[in-house]
Amino acid sequence: MKLTPKSVALIPIIATVATAAFGATLIAPPAANAATTLGAAAQQSGRYFGTAVAAGRLGDSTYVGILNREFDMVTAENEMKMDATEPNQNQFSFGNGDRILNQARNQGKRVRGHALAWHSQQPGWMQNMSGTALRNAMLNHVTQVATYYKGKIYAWDVVNEAYADGGSGGRRDSNLQRTGNDWIEAAFRAARAADPGAKLCYNDYNTDNWSDAKTQGVYRMVQDFKSRGVPIDCVGFQSHFNNNSPVPSNYQTTLQNFANLGVDVQITELDIEGSGSAQAQKFGNVTKACLAVSRCTGITVWGIRDSDSWRASGTPLLFDSSGNKKAAYNATLDALNAGGTGTDPTSTTTTTTTTTTTTTSNNPGTGGCTATVSLNQWNEGFVATVKVTAGSSALSGWAVTATVSNATVTSSWSANRSGNSGSVTFTNVDYNANVPAGGTTEFGFQGSGNGSGLNPSCSAR
Ligand code: XIL
Repeated sequence: MKLTPKSVALIPIIATVATAAFGATLIAPPAANAATTLGAAAQQSGRYFGTAVAAGRLGDSTYVGILNREFDMVTAENEMKMDATEPNQNQFSFGNGDRILNQARNQGKRVRGHALAWHSQQPGWMQNMSGTALRNAMLNHVTQVATYYKGKIYAWDVVNEAYADGGSGGRRDSNLQRTGNDWIEAAFRAARAADPGAKLCYNDYNTDNWSDAKTQGVYRMVQDFKSRGVPIDCVGFQSHFNNNSPVPSNYQTTLQNFANLGVDVQITELDIEGSGSAQAQKFGNVTKACLAVSRCTGITVWGIRDSDSWRASGTPLLFDSSGNKKAAYNATLDALNAGGTGTDPTSTTTTTTTTTTTTTSNNPGTGGCTATVSLNQWNEGFVATVKVTAGSSALSGWAVTATVSNATVTSSWSANRSGNSGSVTFTNVDYNANVPAGGTTEFGFQGSGNGSGLNPSCSAR
């Protein structure tokens, strides 16, 4: 990722001139210049202001009215999670996710994707899986969901909540973690291969206090990913605060230190329990912290009205249950209107060493099949997505042989595999054995090294 700081520099200069002018005449900026909605106020400094949206509430006119008026970024609260999008293995369900995505996009809003891989809210079939089968199922899920939404998602929470609470600073135990410590980077690589245009984020909670072991653990992972070229663009701070988990005084330091690693930071699920001016001040402080960090690109609150919150009893949001603006709303809007360090527009472009090449292989002939590969290569590794197309007869099984000369295959999904280098053969698994005449199915694999020259050939079996 290459940073070009020159465009950042301009914004503070303009801001300084404006402040100086007002300062000289001792006149406060006229209220008419202040934006009157959260989204518009955030846009003044190149940021967004978003909310979580629940598909079940899209028929509520008060809810939709506030959503359309105030926010310019949307996260599906539950509808793009693993259990929602893949209720049965390799049967995908995007109805509710699409409802939220389309509502947002029709209103000109952008969408954060949440979440591709997580120990929680897994579908039942996945909860009992382990080992290679689970690793492949997870990678297939990441690939399929990110491919389905390709080009429509601003940023994906690729992996959610993978670190343990408490003093260890290490990973949380989970079925995904037990597939091997590299599961997180494997998920990021698969997501990059599927949707190279989406920013890829790691998202977690209790990572707000710079002194906490958990924060340090996530920081070291991001540092390691950046140093090895694992594709990561952003870190999400859920920021669910209450008296047991208060806004830390070093919150801005935390955001800045992560940003200094060369990633964007985002506040992804903000809610702060409380009421009145105490709550308002906390929302104001969190907003100011983001605005003080040039790579803090936006804030998302985890719901619209208090009654919409996953912890409604804590009244942690910006609108009361009737949809009225709370003191917390005004404090947030004022902090956004006060402005901050401009974001760097060039940092919103995802740059990687990715090259995508497509190689067409053998001619199917009658009853045969063809295999084409789409290769996503970065410095040290690649993800190959292989499309199997049936010829003029239906297939009841297939085999694809690829030449892996300068690389080692580390994992594969939606196919059985023999070997990991040289001539590697992939055969169908049960659910993708049958391909109708002219139809297609896909499988994929990931490797370290150079994936060029795979030259896959397909045969019926
Ligand atoms: C919550 C939703 O708000 C609830 O509706 C659901 O029952 C549980 O999940 N961290 C996350 C979010 O990343 O996905 C969670 O959302 C809240 C904690």
